Amino acid sequence: MSLLVTESLGKSFGGVEALRKVSIEVERGRIVALIGPNGSGKSTLINVISGVYPPDRGRVLFEGRDITGMPPHRVAEMGVVRTFQVPRVFRGMSVVENLMVAAPGREVETVTGSLLKRRQVRGHEAECLRRAEEVMEFLEIHHMRNEYAGSLSGGQQKLLALARALMTKPKLLMLDEPVAGVAPALARKIFEKILELRSRLGFLIIEHNMDVLLDFADYVYVMHRGEIVARGAPEEVLSSRQVLEVYFGE
Ligand SMILES: Nc1ncnc2c1ncn2[C@@H]1O[C@H](COP(=O)(O)OP(=O)(O)O)[C@@H](O)[C@H]1O
Ligand SMILES: [Mg+2]
Repeated sequence: MSLLVTESLGKSFGGVEALRKVSIEVERGRIVALIGPNGSGKSTLINVISGVYPPDRGRVLFEGRDITGMPPHRVAEMGVVRTFQVPRVFRGMSVVENLMVAAPGREVETVTGSLLKRRQVRGHEAECLRRAEEVMEFLEIHHMRNEYAGSLSGGQQKLLALARALMTKPKLLMLDEPVAGVAPALARKIFEKILELRSRLGFLIIEHNMDVLLDFADYVYVMHRGEIVARGAPEEVLSSRQVLEVYFGE
């Protein structure tokens, strides 16, 4: 069974048809890329899957369950997690604090807590910290653990956004331009980490860098004016006439 299936999604904003009959599939263990010129509907697709907007038409199935129109926090609880084109991090918090607050199910209400409850909360905090250490180790950002997120470079903030997403133990990770504006060496490093994670989850990644796509993507969908106009293995799709026309034809 596919991890994610979208069936003929449609979404309009006023007169703009941002999505038109968009059907895609992401399997576990796959890095699926979404490309297309500016305004073609890529971010809208991720927004609809993650519950930011309900679609006007069509369905979103996750692990076979219909999650169409579910609110974002419920979709996230199911394991569908996304990052944003502009990384959303807490600039005034340290790296490790950014990770701690990203962990799900954080207990805030302790005022009425019994001793037992307080102990549970402490246990949970310890577990979150352990996971944060693991994630920082994996992404090799341990040395920045006490730095303010706001003082990190753009590329490091993207890495931190990925780290925050990993804190939630996602099953499907949707990344909106995870390496846009990131120096090439760091960009490759980020994709190498994604590749290491691939066996355990599925990825839907908006990305334009052709070299990165050829080296790391298993499958590519091309969007144009809200529609999927081409799909297939990266080496076929990226050299197809259709794609050249979409990008340079007008
Ligand atoms: N919240 C919104 N309100 C109005 N129009 C929107 C909104 N989100 C996206 N759009 C429009 O939908 C189209 C697709 O946008 P988007 O999904 O952001 O494209 P992409 O991510 O491929 O650049 C664009 O014409 C954009 O202006
Ligand atoms: Mg976008």
